[in-house]
Amino acid sequence: MPFIAIAICVAAAPVTALAVMALAGLAPAWPVVVAIAVTILSAAAFSLVWARDLDVLTAAVQRIEADDAGPDPAGAVGPTLMEPLGLEIARLSRHLAARSARIEQERRADTLILERLPDALVVLRQDRTVSRRNPATDAIFGADLPAVLRHPELRAALDQAIGDDVTKAADLTIAGPIARELRATVVPINPPLQDGGRAVVLLSDRTRERSSERSHADFVANVSHELRTPLASLIGFTETLLGPAEDDPPARKRFLTIMAEQGARMNRLIDDLLSLSRIEMIEHQVPSDTVDLAGLLPRIVAGYEPRLAGGGTRIVVEIASDTPPIVGDADQIAQVSQNLLDNAVKYGREGGTVRLTAGIAEPGKTWPSRPGVVLAVADEGAGIPRADIPRVTERFYRVDKARSRAAGGTGLGLAIVKHIVSRHRGQLSIESEPGKGTTVSVWLPLAQPGASGRDGD
Ligand SMILES: Nc1ncnc2c1ncn2[C@@H]1O[C@H](COP(=O)(O)OP(=O)(O)OP(=O)(O)O)[C@@H](O)[C@H]1O
Ligand SMILES: [Mg+2]
Repeated sequence: MPFIAIAICVAAAPVTALAVMALAGLAPAWPVVVAIAVTILSAAAFSLVWARDLDVLTAAVQRIEADDAGPDPAGAVGPTLMEPLGLEIARLSRHLAARSARIEQERRADTLILERLPDALVVLRQDRTVSRRNPATDAIFGADLPAVLRHPELRAALDQAIGDDVTKAADLTIAGPIARELRATVVPINPPLQDGGRAVVLLSDRTRERSSERSHADFVANVSHELRTPLASLIGFTETLLGPAEDDPPARKRFLTIMAEQGARMNRLIDDLLSLSRIEMIEHQVPSDTVDLAGLLPRIVAGYEPRLAGGGTRIVVEIASDTPPIVGDADQIAQVSQNLLDNAVKYGREGGTVRLTAGIAEPGKTWPSRPGVVLAVADEGAGIPRADIPRVTERFYRVDKARSRAAGGTGLGLAIVKHIVSRHRGQLSIESEPGKGTTVSVWLPLAQPGASGRDGD
């Protein structure tokens, strides 16, 4: 009981002095007894108040320790001996509460950043076991994470980063059905975290970037290759004309005809490349004009017909009478129709029929639920093998290279169609049955009622 100890401490000296005075006969007995009683009572009252204050302050300090601010200890103590100390403890308590709230806020922000980080982030201990990882790590690698962390390039980067206490980066290729290209950045943690974390490893997926770098390089190689063949032929014939064929008029005429064809082929290739790059440049700008397919398509077919002369192929145009206008760029829609007709005639059956149709799209599995129109070109040719269908819209991809080249194709026709359709926020579908024919369909969104713009002229 602290209050008894305080009371004894306070009262012991005066009580002893009074008792000695009484015993020595220095003071009359009864006033000494009264003085001793008053001293003991006041010591008891004082120690009671002091002990209560001590209890309140002890409880307040305990609450601070337990991270619970509780009532203001100065208020609870009241205007007694301990008030200044109570006020000081209250101030300390408020200060600590504010600091821990700030730390908690920062911790929550850090956790949120790690959780939302789209790249995988792993914290490794000295023995290379995982001490922490963010949700993206599981989403990206799942059960493959140990294999990624065992990658020799990553191991070497980890050893160096921890050994030299510097940030290290490594490029990893993870084999699998689809090879992944990763960039690993290893940041050492010195001193280690409390849970043993010794290095942070950030894994960014660079597969798409790398593939676009590669396709850019492929594109340049393809263009050079496509240009080299006609150019080599032009150079070869020029040399022949200047040399052996100089005085051979029939040979000269034949060679000049071939040279003109090769020149025209180079011209077509450059036209197609320019057209593709122009479309790509404005691909993000959705057209705002309206195009009336019922007026536009027959005109394109009529312009195309002279090229059919002698081929035996027939073009049938079927446009549903209720086909509404679409949102589009008339020149580009004309180019789509032309490229598709060109393929259908080139790769269709000789003497067969090519069908160009247009009508309101039936919303369903193939087409979006929004209102739209489908423009389709169907032929009766040899078709496209199933495995090649997803690739025919790639630049320069040809199923039968010899046939395409012989027909003067650049291999860019469907790539141009794909980009025009994408600019129109439409959809492209290619269905083909080997031996029976191919149907290429394009879904395009309808013009909104009241939309202004020029017509398909
Ligand atoms: N209707 C079709 N039937 C069969 N194969 C087709 C058809 N349309 C396209 N292909 C195949 O897809 C390839 C790519 O077609 P694309 O139109 O892009 O190029 P191209 O016709 O060879 O050349 P370009 O269109 O530049 O003259 C063609 O080479 C051909 O092999
Ligand atoms: Mg083509």
